[in-house]
Amino acid sequence: MSLFVTRRLPERVMARARAMGAEIHDSDEVLPDAERARLLGAYDAILCTLGDTFPADMFEGSVKTRVIANFGVGYNHIDADAAKAAGVIVTNTPGVLTDATADLAMTLMLMTLRRAAEGERLVRAGDWTGWTPTQMLGQGITGKTLGIVGFGRIGQAMARKAHHGFGMEIVYYNRSEKQVDFPARRLPTVEDVAQEADVVAIHAPGGADTRHLFGAAAIAAMKPTGVLINTARGDVVDETALIAALEEHRIAGAGLDVYEHEPTVPDRLRALDNAVLLPHLGSATLEVREAMGMMALDNIEAVLAGRPAPNPV
Ligand code: DGY
Repeated sequence: MSLFVTRRLPERVMARARAMGAEIHDSDEVLPDAERARLLGAYDAILCTLGDTFPADMFEGSVKTRVIANFGVGYNHIDADAAKAAGVIVTNTPGVLTDATADLAMTLMLMTLRRAAEGERLVRAGDWTGWTPTQMLGQGITGKTLGIVGFGRIGQAMARKAHHGFGMEIVYYNRSEKQVDFPARRLPTVEDVAQEADVVAIHAPGGADTRHLFGAAAIAAMKPTGVLINTARGDVVDETALIAALEEHRIAGAGLDVYEHEPTVPDRLRALDNAVLLPHLGSATLEVREAMGMMALDNIEAVLAGRPAPNPV
């Protein structure tokens, strides 16, 4: 069997992949499109990740690959329907990054409400002139309402932490009603969530189905004190409408880990003090990245041994 790994991964994962005979592109650089297309005709299995796009037309040639194991839970960079039609099983890594990503959403919520990044910049710049009763006043968290858009594993994990840790009331938008072990109210539209929540957190998967799900109308419905958190995918939010709302102070702030056109972060967004900006760190802990790699390799081993993939998308 032949296996290609498209990117440098944690050492333990690469050691196991090497023991499986993998060829590894041991680099942080994304391979060119033509090279990725070539892999489909040349390898039984491909372990890829965010940024490694596999659009429908890449599956039109002769395809040798039987499994594409995505290192990550979000797989909107792979056309899963075209892969299926070409006989390729696509797998992902659900579960192992749930808490890490929910924790980062909590981090962004706290940083945004308490203006932590702004304060850090002030101190680093040497501009802090001392404590004053009115300096950099943020907003409290306890007892506020958290609105979750996309109430799957990660959305529920954030809601649970926010409810138990900060006494937050939870409302959510999701296509179907979810049974959870804490109080949570489903609302009919994203605009309803935007209107009722003090903090809106995006946890919907990206891709064509959810593009701009949280669009200009939802942003306009937010409270002037409202903040928006996104650790899911940038395209779920209309980034241009969000920037305008932040510039005009129609909402209080945003905490973002993901962007519409990564790694490009618009200059207008970077210029804003009321935006906390992180570089897609949701699942970035060593334990989690190792677990994601091992899970991707488990899926490859299973498919190539003729067993069902444990985590097909
Ligand atoms: C995920 O798992 O989807 C992370 O965003 C990294 O791709």
